[in-house]
Amino acid sequence: MTVGARRFHDETAHTPYSVRTSGHQLEWDIKPFPFKVYTELPAVALPRDVDVLATPTLEALARAAPPAERLTLPALTALLYYTAGVTKKKTYPGGGEVLFRAAASTGALYQTEVYVVAGDVDGLAAGLYHFCPGDFALRRLREGDVRGALAGAAADATLARRAATLVLSAIYWRNTWKYQARGYRHLFWDSGTMLANALAVGEALGLAPRLVTGFVDAQVNRLLGLDPTREAALELVPLGPEGPAAPALGEMPAIAHDVMPLSSDEVDYPELREIHEASRLDSPAAVEAWRHGTRPPPREPRGPLLALPEPPRASRPLGEAIQRRGSTRRFSHAPLSAAGLAAALWAATRPVAADVPDGLVDVYVIVNAVEGVAPGAYAFWPERGLETIREGDFRRESAYLTLEQPIGGDAAAVLYFLAPLDAILERWGERGYRLANLEAGIAGGRAYLAAYGTDFGASGLTFYDAEVVRFFSPHAAGRDAIFVTALGRASGARDGVLLSNTIPSPPRRP
Ligand SMILES: Cc1cc2nc3c(=O)[nH]c(=O)nc-3n(C[C@H](O)[C@H](O)[C@H](O)COP(=O)(O)O)c2cc1C
Repeated sequence: MTVGARRFHDETAHTPYSVRTSGHQLEWDIKPFPFKVYTELPAVALPRDVDVLATPTLEALARAAPPAERLTLPALTALLYYTAGVTKKKTYPGGGEVLFRAAASTGALYQTEVYVVAGDVDGLAAGLYHFCPGDFALRRLREGDVRGALAGAAADATLARRAATLVLSAIYWRNTWKYQARGYRHLFWDSGTMLANALAVGEALGLAPRLVTGFVDAQVNRLLGLDPTREAALELVPLGPEGPAAPALGEMPAIAHDVMPLSSDEVDYPELREIHEASRLDSPAAVEAWRHGTRPPPREPRGPLLALPEPPRASRPLGEAIQRRGSTRRFSHAPLSAAGLAAALWAATRPVAADVPDGLVDVYVIVNAVEGVAPGAYAFWPERGLETIREGDFRRESAYLTLEQPIGGDAAAVLYFLAPLDAILERWGERGYRLANLEAGIAGGRAYLAAYGTDFGASGLTFYDAEVVRFFSPHAAGRDAIFVTALGRASGARDGVLLSNTIPSPPRRP
């Protein structure tokens, strides 16, 4: 077993004691700016008449559209908008304004950045671009076709042939400002919710998206011109049809374009940098070897299973579901239908087309109010149903487990993602920690899509680590709590203002 990720996980666990004694205070004067702004590079404006994405949400999650013959700029634009775009704005008393994005993100801090390695995109010159959701524009960081460099770094020749690849990164300080070192987990939860959107939208557009988690970190960071003490590449998503292979490239010359500082001061969290470093891969050969990890052996239910109905047949267009999405801030106690719960569980546990196996994370459920399902604690078995752990009214416990937040108790059902972390670390080393958190983030993001694609709401939640495992034990013994998503019906007015398929004007520096 590896030590780094296990120790990091334990040291960043929330307990009632740690939360009460943390002493961490938010320094509003240095709250990081939520957009990365390249100050010297011209903007390449993206077309503003974004595709409405009419494919029903559950359909997009179920199967791929026929393959697109070309990757076009409008398709890339839709993918960027529905993955990382600004969809909503809320103005607070006193004048503060938050521009909310297509995907949920811890604390609305939006540390995930998106880059595009474009090779063969109709309407866009080959190059490496950064996407800024603030002014809805790309900025070219490198000219020419650099797909070969990415393919080499990822030990995956198909990346030199696919039309383009998205690279998701995270700027640490944007999240650690509030969440300190535990923010490392958030990098994967939040890029996971974005990937849930990117994968669904990519499938709806026939772009055959695939998740690539293994790559030589230093090479990809250098390609993007990142300062690896502050920002790191996390995941790659190749898109579009394969064409002739781009030429192989050796080590790329360094680039260092000027960017606006996020705040006048920053706090470093060395333990975050260290665990990320410890989970790096150093060579294409190491990437290939790492990909051969296998998932831990499957478990079997211990008791009878309660079958859930089929998810609803009809669902909202995917574009509309993403635009309407917003974390529910308050749930009423109104029940969900069993089909609604089934849709969220089905979506959360869909396979992920990736370079490594999925199925690392198990789903446990607290049911508070679901028609036809007795309130209680359950383990979910994909395609089979719910195994009862114990029946009872657990609203109080669920609020407690989710860091004493009322929404954990008011929700109709709460999904707890748990994983056999030690077994995962044995198979994938320290980088397995990224995989467990990422898979749970994608699952949570897909649960959001199923909720807003049908007729209810959702919210990601943080939690008391050990208390969650204890609650579901002995069934969950030996597992670790990775992430939580609450489902239910919103109480009162919706948050924010829905901007119907419009893109807000560029943000101004405060
Ligand atoms: C991984 C994750 C964890 C979250 N944890 C909490 C939480 O503990 N409590 C809460 O009220 N909201 C939580 N949220 C919701 C975020 O606050 C919300 O996504 C963010 O404010 C952006 O707003 P939106 O989702 O409405 O667009 C979480 C969201 C994510 C993606």
